[in-house]
Amino acid sequence: MNHPDPIPMELAAGGSIDTGRLFEDYRELAELEHLYNAAIRQLTIKFEILNDEFRVKYERSPIHHIESRVKSTASIVNKLLARGKEVTPESARENVNDIAGVRVVCCYIDDVYSVADMLLRQTDIRLIREQDYIREPNYNGYRSLHLDIELPIYLSERTEMVKAEVQLRTVAMDFWASLEHDLRYKNAKAIPAGIGDRMLACADEIAAIDREMQEIYKEIQAL
Ligand code: GTP
Ligand code: MG
Repeated sequence: MNHPDPIPMELAAGGSIDTGRLFEDYRELAELEHLYNAAIRQLTIKFEILNDEFRVKYERSPIHHIESRVKSTASIVNKLLARGKEVTPESARENVNDIAGVRVVCCYIDDVYSVADMLLRQTDIRLIREQDYIREPNYNGYRSLHLDIELPIYLSERTEMVKAEVQLRTVAMDFWASLEHDLRYKNAKAIPAGIGDRMLACADEIAAIDREMQEIYKEIQAL
């Protein structure tokens, strides 16, 4: 997952913020990265194990591929500032759910929901919030199932509950989202009117293809 990663303006400029404390916390925020990396590895392993089991049992993989990223310190600070939250490591852990991000790209729509259910059945996973942009797509046509979750990370002397955002989508949805993300961030100033409608139309066509591919798969399975 590649998000744009600007240096927070307030950080770069100093401004009215107590930068001494901010830079101290900034360093601490960077240290949190290790914890979130552990969460990503743990989640990735969970998905890989599920996928491997499917391969052994049913000779197919519901998961096409998995991507992940730890949100950069600069992006975390930006998000906290944008939301008017304190810029401290504690505040980041509390207020930013997607410091650890895992994207699970599945083959078919049904796979998205079955992989999500398989994850949420695991007793160490706590669901914080579910946003189903497949049942209710975003205004621009974006589709994905987002799960904000919390999972335990076992450290040498304590257990930390760590938040993560899991995005599950089909390869078709991923195709649209990846290109839309590129268009939006690379050409933000130059996007002419009407492009939004065309992107929405593309998303709808892709969704129709997704449903058709799902049907074809089911019919072939039933043979
Ligand atoms: P967060 O706390 O930031 O998660 O706020 P939120 O829950 O309101 O945001 P949401 O979960 O809806 O979206 C977060 C992420 O989903 C973004 O960082 C993107 O990765 C992805 N996303 C959401 N909407 C779009 C979209 O319109 N296009 C693309 N390409 N990605 C999107
Ligand atoms: Mg979210």
